[in-house]
Amino acid sequence: MARKEQLKVAVIGGGSSYTPELVEGLIKRGAELPVKELYLVDVEAGREKLEIVGALARRMVEKAGADIRIHLTLDRKEAIRGADFVTTQLRVGQLEARGRDERIPLKYGCIGQETTGAGGFAKALRTIPVILGICREMEELAPEAFLLNFTNPAGIVTEAALKYSRVRTIGLCNLPIGLRMQIAEFYGVDASKVQLEMVGINHLNWTTKIVVDGSDVTASFLAKAAGAKGLTMKNISDLEWDGDFLRSLGALPCSYHRYYYMRDEMLAEQLEDLKTEGTRADVVKRVEAELFELYKDPDLAIKPPQLEQRGGAYYSEVAVNLMSSIYNDRKDIQTVNVRNGGLLPFLPDDASIEVNCVVDAEGAHPVQPSNLVGPEIRGLMQLVKAYEELTVEAAAHGDRDKALQALALHPLVGTADLARSILMDILEENKPYLPQFQS
Ligand code: G6P
Repeated sequence: MARKEQLKVAVIGGGSSYTPELVEGLIKRGAELPVKELYLVDVEAGREKLEIVGALARRMVEKAGADIRIHLTLDRKEAIRGADFVTTQLRVGQLEARGRDERIPLKYGCIGQETTGAGGFAKALRTIPVILGICREMEELAPEAFLLNFTNPAGIVTEAALKYSRVRTIGLCNLPIGLRMQIAEFYGVDASKVQLEMVGINHLNWTTKIVVDGSDVTASFLAKAAGAKGLTMKNISDLEWDGDFLRSLGALPCSYHRYYYMRDEMLAEQLEDLKTEGTRADVVKRVEAELFELYKDPDLAIKPPQLEQRGGAYYSEVAVNLMSSIYNDRKDIQTVNVRNGGLLPFLPDDASIEVNCVVDAEGAHPVQPSNLVGPEIRGLMQLVKAYEELTVEAAAHGDRDKALQALALHPLVGTADLARSILMDILEENKPYLPQFQS
């Protein structure tokens, strides 16, 4: 990107409770990343939240004495026009829809999760048409801008934007940075001393090399990680990994792998939680209610610590790091979601993959992993990627056949009967959000 004096950022889904994190990050990094115009955009249903979060963002900027103008708008085009970066953190159908995504699979004895399995599939069907609409507007109004997509299921949504638009798209997740922080804490070192090599797809990546303070500690860390606590994100149960399993895998699975490798225990926990606290959407609704009460306080001018109860910790760090490395042509390594382009020869070229990338002014360029990917990792990755490929097609074209095959293939659904029942419920309960399936 041509280096500009002033940058414009548009945040789609700006009324999210996470926005104060982003604002904090932009304030902290103002010297290296001169964002002067920050547009927070939302839809009519999110107007109240947008106003509350926007007022807090203004107080934060004022308190810090930062030179950032905050604009609140329901007019997406106004926000996108001439932007340098567009970030997407939207949730089509709000938390009500997330709750349905988590409950429908559980009714059939399958994992109910917002990004993984049938829940993530439903979210993808609702989200992809909206993201492609944003891409159309970016092609017209901000053709040079980067789309930084946080919207879940981030890998699938990113793949759709890469396949069906010309927009320069990078998919982001806080999981890679979260793991780095967890490992740094484990060794009692600063996160800058930890380097990880990750390979996979979003919410299904394996860490194949762990370097701490310049030494490769992969094998010894895996031995220590067995039975350890704290290697997970806030929203995922901290079930311990088995030692023999980790040693034979030779890599550290990500938090979300528990839904696959420990499916029965995770399902039992979810069913138990359902009776007490409800699904994760119910928990998040309560946390959000508390957060928005705090955000309303006219004396609050910082990000409140309660936000750390959410699973998305460090998300602003990820977004601001990426924007800064692009703007400053930094050429550092970040783990993000990009087009495969042959890097992993066993996946389609146009698949999105989550791997280490060099980030420069032109975007993120994947780096060849130093270790070969064996069948124990490749097999699951290929299977879930095939599900993702079918899901992108189903969502983009309203294709019920592809939708049925996607669910039947997914290891957390896996039979024709379950796929059919779950699909019928998803289509029925999401009707207002699935115009592509209405004809
Ligand atoms: C994780 C994931 C994010 C996800 C978040 C959900 O950290 O990496 O992709 O959005 O958790 O957190 P929540 O608090 O909404 O359950």
